[in-house]
Amino acid sequence: MADTLTVTDNRTGKSYELPISHGTVNAMDFRQIKVTDDEFGMMVYDPGYKNTASCKSRITFIDGEKGILRYRGYPIEQLAERATFLEVAQLLINGELPTREQHEKFVEEVTVHTFVHENMKSFLEGFRYDANPMSMFISSVAALSSFYPEAKDVLDEECRRAQMIRLIAKVPTLAAFAYRHSQGLPYVYPRNDLSYSGNFLAMIFNINQPNYQPHPTLERAFDVLFTLHADHEQNCSTSTMRAVGSSQVDPYSALAAAAAALYGPLHGGANRMVLYMLEEIGSKDKVPEFIKKVKNREALLMGFGHRVYKNYDPRARIIKKLAHEVFEITGVNPLLDIALELERIALEDEFFVKRKLYPNVDFYSGLIYQAMKFPIDFYPVLFAIGRTVGWLAQWREMLLDKEQKIARPRQIYLGEGARDYVPLEER
Ligand code: SDX
Repeated sequence: MADTLTVTDNRTGKSYELPISHGTVNAMDFRQIKVTDDEFGMMVYDPGYKNTASCKSRITFIDGEKGILRYRGYPIEQLAERATFLEVAQLLINGELPTREQHEKFVEEVTVHTFVHENMKSFLEGFRYDANPMSMFISSVAALSSFYPEAKDVLDEECRRAQMIRLIAKVPTLAAFAYRHSQGLPYVYPRNDLSYSGNFLAMIFNINQPNYQPHPTLERAFDVLFTLHADHEQNCSTSTMRAVGSSQVDPYSALAAAAAALYGPLHGGANRMVLYMLEEIGSKDKVPEFIKKVKNREALLMGFGHRVYKNYDPRARIIKKLAHEVFEITGVNPLLDIALELERIALEDEFFVKRKLYPNVDFYSGLIYQAMKFPIDFYPVLFAIGRTVGWLAQWREMLLDKEQKIARPRQIYLGEGARDYVPLEER
């Protein structure tokens, strides 16, 4: 049997042999299908890209039916358990786990690039005291591009690498500065004696303690959370990073666009919506009433459902376990009981079972963040810190992919045909 698809156009009776590779056909092979030679040729229509591969990638593999997630072939469960976030960053970007020497060099490079230009502080001062921290984060990442004009040289590997180090190192600083601004607290500068996650927690929580040390359990929890959020193949924000990056704009501007996509309540903004939902439900006994609202299409069960996972999101399983470790230190989040009851009902209710709606990465993460006293609106920023590594790995892979071109989809035009302008006095 040949690896081809035979397509017969019943309008003409003509048949076409389309080659199949990796279980897909190339959309451009449909363009030859025409009724008359002067036609543009056939396209494929796929709103929301539910069945369209936009690229070939070697970074992250997801099996949605089986609930499998692997970074460069390594199961997420093993990486969450045994790797540090910066090890995972190197794995995602370079394709291999680093040697000890490579890792120590990378950690050193990231550590010494955590500062941002002092002008960034006055930039952030321009925001109202109650500005949403994700708006501040997106804006300040975009503003960073103005400090590194050389970053436009996106086709140079050394230049790309320098910007990736800067972004990985600086996003926690920008995130922490946005947090401190919203809390009316002075900025805490990065420290070189702490780990990546430890330094982030110090910049967030240190109130005038010269030798502040983050709690090791919380420090490790954040390293795992950053790892779990690091990449997820061609999700909305990563596709945005690739599309914006395909115009060869600098990575700061592309990453700001990706963070803006992540901000949406259907994507990385869902983690904050879960907490608002749990607070709206208010108590365990009100859960059945809320489930009824969801089934009547009056509300979404935030933190549930996924375009790819039609099984339990493996990250949600790990975060649920991590929550109990964090609650040992912070005390149990009182909303946990509501979340567990929602999950219990949803996993047995036909409405959710039929639609294969399971908890996703955003369902439990917010409970941890709230228990650690982060404001709800800060949660998408926490997601963005981890995902920065995935956005950059995918951005680099896109630029190295010879098959990639500037992203420019087509459309099905259903508008007006040609017509002449009518002067105002005649309308
Ligand atoms: C992330 O893509 C990624 O990988 C994203 C992410 C990553 O790491 O980058 O995993 C991170 O964004 C996780 C998703 C966080 N979002 C939420 O938790 C918001 C709530 N979820 C839904 O909005 C929804 O499930 C989506 C957006 C996540 C997925 O939407 P799809 O794939 O377009 O699915 P759909 O809307 O076609 O849903 C299929 C059916 C529909 O019902 P029918 O019209 O078929 O009767 O399921 C229903 C939907 O109405 N449905 C839900 C639901 N999610 C889907 N009904 C109630 N509550 C929900 N949460």
